[in-house]
Amino acid sequence: MDEYMNSNRRLWDNWTAIHERSSFYDVEGFRNGRSSLKSIELEELGDVSGKALLHLQCHFGMDTLSWARLGAQVTGVDFSERAIRLACALSEETSIPARFVRSNIYDLPDVLSGEFDVVFTSYGVLSWLPDLRRWAEVVSHFLKPGGVFYIVEAHPFAHVFDDENEVDLRVRYPYFHGPEPLRFETHGSYADPDADHHSVEYSWDHSLGEILNSLIAAGLHIEHLHEFPYCAWKIYPFTEQGEDGWWRLKEDDSAIPLMFSLKATKQGPEVAPAPTESQ
Ligand SMILES: C[S@@+](CC[C@H](N)C(=O)[O-])C[C@H]1O[C@@H](n2cnc3c(N)ncnc32)[C@H](O)[C@@H]1O
Repeated sequence: MDEYMNSNRRLWDNWTAIHERSSFYDVEGFRNGRSSLKSIELEELGDVSGKALLHLQCHFGMDTLSWARLGAQVTGVDFSERAIRLACALSEETSIPARFVRSNIYDLPDVLSGEFDVVFTSYGVLSWLPDLRRWAEVVSHFLKPGGVFYIVEAHPFAHVFDDENEVDLRVRYPYFHGPEPLRFETHGSYADPDADHHSVEYSWDHSLGEILNSLIAAGLHIEHLHEFPYCAWKIYPFTEQGEDGWWRLKEDDSAIPLMFSLKATKQGPEVAPAPTESQ
């Protein structure tokens, strides 16, 4: 497992350098006040002002810092050293207060203490994780009773289709989690496919049932699960970007789900009913 994780960590260190310069991430715009958050999470998570927010797999922290601009007290976590260094630099340059921690998600309970009102994670996170049961336990570990977990992510069903085929949807990958990761030779990055970089990527599939059941088993109560027929990035070569910024199979096509969002709350301790007069 360490071999896969180390390879992925190297990949993310290298991608961070590419992403910092990419128009996809538009770091300059962010420095000048642009929020990197999208309408879905802004509307569904709502007011974060004054809340302690833990951002898992925060990359180089633009979303984390965007939540801080909205008043949250933020902590961002990522296992890429380079990403965390850049996140800290952005926090300092923009004078947005934030704490960033370099850690593998699975080791986080050993290096970070405290409980949070909100645990947030988004867009391209789950396929890097081999074990969702342990991931959900980490989420639950850091939530206060009554605290909210929120994720917006590519839909697992969308991951079964070939992401290199230029023409149409063709099933290529398994839907269900397997014991071994999928291995890909990667050129460039999703944010800059022409970047001069070659690496190996390991990823794991997780079905929607596996995601839900992992969270339920960790003591979370699912508040909603929404599915969207559009994606935040160019998920297949033939998707088209609408004026609203979302990528669809074709204009007005809602044939399959490309993203989902989920909100859950951590169950509080059971409160015993107050005794009645006759008791
Ligand atoms: C696609 S990015 C997160 C997306 C984020 N919304 C963004 O675009 O800025 C995925 C992040 O997960 C991190 N990551 C992958 N596996 C991890 C692990 N086991 N523990 C902590 N971070 C991990 C990577 O370093 C990367 O920054």
